[in-house]
Amino acid sequence: MKPLIAGNWKMNGLSDDAKSLAEDLKARSAADLPACELLVCPPYLHIAQVAGILQGTEVRVGGQDCHTAGSGAHTGDVSGDMLRDLGCGYVILGHSERRADHGENDALVRAKAEAAQAAGLVPIVCVGETADQRASGEALAVIARQLKGSVPVGMDAERLVIAYEPVWAIGTGQTATPDDVVEVHREIRKLLVGLVGEGSDRVRILYGGSVKPANAAELLAQANVDGALVGGASLKAEDFWAIAASCP
Ligand code: PGA
Repeated sequence: MKPLIAGNWKMNGLSDDAKSLAEDLKARSAADLPACELLVCPPYLHIAQVAGILQGTEVRVGGQDCHTAGSGAHTGDVSGDMLRDLGCGYVILGHSERRADHGENDALVRAKAEAAQAAGLVPIVCVGETADQRASGEALAVIARQLKGSVPVGMDAERLVIAYEPVWAIGTGQTATPDDVVEVHREIRKLLVGLVGEGSDRVRILYGGSVKPANAAELLAQANVDGALVGGASLKAEDFWAIAASCP
């Protein structure tokens, strides 16, 4: 399975920043391509520009969220069809920041995942426990609940990605230990058998949370770690490329 290194730009950068970052990635992809699939998820407003710059390269473009409907009276929202129309192949769904900032729950994330697949996008469904949940020994139970609630049963395994992102590791500089990551990813792989059935071993499971060039190789070498979802370090082309180059 080819690893996926996905950059989540979050709400960062003005259009000039997005342009120079995309141009830097384009230049790097022409020079030497790492042995993984590469994806960047810019803010909606920059997607068209970034997709234009990266057209013809191996760097894919995705969204950071989408609505459950294809179109309609939903002020401020963006649909999977709109993302697809701009050239997106992926969409991040249920990120902990959306769960916290916008009160997104598992049922909504599941409906979005169904809509995204119907629009021809590959959903990257995020799950992960808080620091308190880990401290009280609930991490695996929380992740199982989120996964069962957020992943539609019988989804096409080839068109589904899961991201394990411990909330306490996001943007904090703290990363989960390789042993913790292995334990959680093994559990996710097991649960996917019941959710996806045939082909569940082909669902890519990404780790996210303070992934940087210094820790990427060790994390990416662990069993069932099929790539990374990178926030802060994806805003620097050099760091994003170094992480991608760390794929085994
Ligand atoms: P981080 O973010 O790499 O800045 O910790 C990861 C994410 O939220 O996807």
